[in-house]
Amino acid sequence: MSPLGEPLSRVDGKLKVTGSAKYSAEFEIPQLAYAVMVQSTIPSGRIARMDTSAAERIPGVVAVLKPGNALELPGAERRVSVLQDDLVHYDRQPVAVVVAETLEQAHHAASMVRVEYAKADAKLNFDAGFPTSYPGSHNGIPGDLSFGDVDAGLRQAEITIDQVYTTPIQHHNPMEPHATIAKWDGDHLSIHDATQHISGVQETLAKMFAIPKENVHVTCLFVGGGFGCKGQVWSHVILAALAAKQTNRPVKLVLERPQMFGPVGARPRTHQKLTLGATRDGKLTAIRHEVHANTSEIEDYLESSAFPTRVMYSCPNVATIHRLVPLNLGTPTYMRAPGVATGTYAVEVAMDELAYELEMDPLQLRLINYTDVDPHTKVPFSEKNLRGCYSRAADRFGWSKRSHGPQTMREGKLAIGWGMATETYPGKNLPAAALVRLQPDGTAVVASGTQEIGNGIYTVMTEVAADTLKMSPRLFTAVLGDTNLPPAPISAGSMTTASVGPAVREAALRLRSQLIAIASRDAQSPLHGADESDVELQDGKMFLRSAPGRSDNFKSLLARHGNRPVEASAQVKPGVNENQYSVHSFGAVFAEVAVDPDVRMVRVQRVVAVFDVGKVLNEKLGRSQFIGGIVWGISLALFEDTHVDWRNGRIINANLADYLVPVNRDIGEIDVSTLDIPDTKLDSLGARGIGEIGITGTGAAVANAVFHATGKRVRDLPITPDKLL
Ligand code: MOS
Repeated sequence: MSPLGEPLSRVDGKLKVTGSAKYSAEFEIPQLAYAVMVQSTIPSGRIARMDTSAAERIPGVVAVLKPGNALELPGAERRVSVLQDDLVHYDRQPVAVVVAETLEQAHHAASMVRVEYAKADAKLNFDAGFPTSYPGSHNGIPGDLSFGDVDAGLRQAEITIDQVYTTPIQHHNPMEPHATIAKWDGDHLSIHDATQHISGVQETLAKMFAIPKENVHVTCLFVGGGFGCKGQVWSHVILAALAAKQTNRPVKLVLERPQMFGPVGARPRTHQKLTLGATRDGKLTAIRHEVHANTSEIEDYLESSAFPTRVMYSCPNVATIHRLVPLNLGTPTYMRAPGVATGTYAVEVAMDELAYELEMDPLQLRLINYTDVDPHTKVPFSEKNLRGCYSRAADRFGWSKRSHGPQTMREGKLAIGWGMATETYPGKNLPAAALVRLQPDGTAVVASGTQEIGNGIYTVMTEVAADTLKMSPRLFTAVLGDTNLPPAPISAGSMTTASVGPAVREAALRLRSQLIAIASRDAQSPLHGADESDVELQDGKMFLRSAPGRSDNFKSLLARHGNRPVEASAQVKPGVNENQYSVHSFGAVFAEVAVDPDVRMVRVQRVVAVFDVGKVLNEKLGRSQFIGGIVWGISLALFEDTHVDWRNGRIINANLADYLVPVNRDIGEIDVSTLDIPDTKLDSLGARGIGEIGITGTGAAVANAVFHATGKRVRDLPITPDKLL
């Protein structure tokens, strides 16, 4: 009966596959004008002169906005480039905006803008950036954190691993580019934006234009992928609103693919120095993880790669250190398991190296260092069943048939390699609100100001409300992506289900109580005088447990009550006391690669992963999230790499032909499953979130498999054929 956990298809699936789901760029608005950004061609300096006269003469041009003629924004911040000054901090920074009647006219005019620059020295040498600034904290968590005595731990060690691992700059590249439509009515601003956080867009724009938050209405019904880059408000959103205000026209600004590289975030480059100390029998005595990652000149972003090191293994002496290297590049940001994807790559390859030094099975090494308590805080995990993941994944993969030595497994002329790693991701949630409304016709609405970024939240909201009210999911319409709805947090950090789900549950429980109370007060209801504790719901009906023959249904109840809808809303802040429990998901991932000995191409033939992520609310959607995560993990290991010309800070593969992402042909068989053990300490649903954990560990499992196949330890991602020659 309960739809929870069932493989219900996406309730918005039909809209998506028929093309009728409306994405933010697709709203048709009368009088719409088109904006195109002009971007800098130097990484650092000043705009000395800008000649826009030729651009202004192009037919159809409404305005060319630039520093000097652009409206002054009372809330402007250094981190965004919104034409408030003539400074250039990175290549392809927005420096002007052309508004025209058509997109083609705007493009043509943008190409006619002539800019002269006064160049300044640019900081573009990552290695010369050491030593660097201290990042303080990251989302309230300290960047540097140590416990025990690492030097003493290293003195006790009989084996030491000391290596540097690097990961490159990467760009998110969702299929849907960033897109904003802005429209003013007096001092009221309406925005359609491709965003992971409508409330964040609302707050930022209110601050920029110094208007009350209530004057900004943001909608976003579907997001065509975000991966973190749509989590914050970048320059173009503000520029669209600014252009709309200044031209007194609704304005649409959609980024083109090359513009997705630079002004809208990236995963920064990481340089990770890992030192592991262990006894001969494999017990870790010390871990030191020092991370250098780039940020920009205009804002600090910390890639928290050493955070997972704090929770993964039992080790008495741990030091985790982060340093930022400010460069003249666009500001980096959260990207697909930020910190954890890059950090688990380094730690889990180092663990593999340690296993080989010890001549020990890599899985055995993990089991020897298993921990049931958070090694830093010493409190237990809210729910951790990683042993079960290791053993099931190893079984399904056939790990016991592995021969330990590198270059010992073949399939014809192909070198075969097997590697494994641990996966982990924090379980978090944030306050969220929702409402549930029962309509007189027996259908219902469930609503929350959250975002559908592919996470399936339309479906999860439907399932949770339907389960609580014991109605068919088909009777529900889920509504989201509108700042007029009860507010919900950013859709990021794998937090959406664990945040919005409990709010929907609570609102539905309140609606249930209200409906029972109405029936109980109603002299005409068979449930007249009933006590709530004696009432059960089923199939749109209420009946008494003590007398099942006495039942009333929602439709007739509402018909007797003026045919008006009944609605309940709730705001919840779930969460755990961090002094009591540490909340993290875990998993085990095993990968098989085949390496062609002639051209050194690596193909991932098989991945087996087993996750311990709490309750999975929808087996079908969950599965596709895990598969997506694993694909991005493979991508981290083998494909993605933003090439910067370090002489001028220009990204030279700013397109999807040269920036490689895996396609179907690159991905072999992926076998995912979960333990499905609810974590009820985090929230009422027992779900910890599943969006990102698949990306973690996978990069290392693939890298370790490549070592097993070839005997070559590549410590700089991505593992491209040239590095295996
Ligand atoms: Mo995600 S990178 O937490 O949006």
